[in-house]
Amino acid sequence: MIERMLQVPTIAELRRLVGEARRQGKRIGFVPTMGYLHDGHLSLVKKARETCDFVVMSIFVNPLQFGPNEDFDRYPRDLERDRELARSAGVDLLFTPSVEEMYPRQVLTTVSVAQVSEPLCGQSRPGHFDGVATVVLKLFQIVQPDAAFFGQKDAQQLAVISQMVEDLSVPVQIVPCPIVREPDGLAMSSRNVYLSPEERQQATVLYRSLKQADAWLKEGVPLDEIKQRMAEMITAEPLAEIDYVEVLTYPRLTPVDTASPGQQLIFALAVRFGRTRLIDNMLVTV
Ligand code: PAF
Repeated sequence: MIERMLQVPTIAELRRLVGEARRQGKRIGFVPTMGYLHDGHLSLVKKARETCDFVVMSIFVNPLQFGPNEDFDRYPRDLERDRELARSAGVDLLFTPSVEEMYPRQVLTTVSVAQVSEPLCGQSRPGHFDGVATVVLKLFQIVQPDAAFFGQKDAQQLAVISQMVEDLSVPVQIVPCPIVREPDGLAMSSRNVYLSPEERQQATVLYRSLKQADAWLKEGVPLDEIKQRMAEMITAEPLAEIDYVEVLTYPRLTPVDTASPGQQLIFALAVRFGRTRLIDNMLVTV
């Protein structure tokens, strides 16, 4: 593992250092993040280290992907701690641009991936995936990685980015990585720190309901009935407020009434606990 990690805040310096690594014949792996790192992020770095010789991580809380009433200002940030975690996980180069470095002038060009961006979080967070696709394409242009690593926890984001890369022939391999969970099943997320102890305890219902959904599917329970039972399980927790409980095809995220053999489906959830909105999902092959 490389002990020395460099941190750069400018696009020019990042390009220079990645260019050097590339000239040395190194395969470049990229882990884009918004920081406040947890074991989920670190698992992406671990995966990147397995197949790449030089790992770049970005930490950038991207204003384009937050709505006006969302948590951009209060999104948790701790660069000191992140730097140490990134270094010990084996990141070679940490890119920490400011908003002014990334967007020095008003952004007039945005990337919008139709259809896949529309259901689920696209309904409750209008414009969110345009912000994600735009910043990710921009980061790909800056880093020009051979491979980029994304968590399956943000399954819709992964589907949007994979579609964008395919449609625009972006020369990067997208590597999906499994969801990392706390011992009680809660999917790791930087937003988990917002939860009060009571909310944190009740939030385990997300994973419990997903596991039940999988069991019900195997028993042959119809999809509509599964969604209804999941919603009942979730609302039994007094602090939980459902944003959506859905089952769709994956990765195209189209509606599905009846599961057909061999089909890949996603059970996807978004649930609010107070001001905190959590998402989780499970992929199943029928
Ligand atoms: O998943 C995230 O942390 C962000 O959406 C990403 C991919 C870093 C883009 O800002």
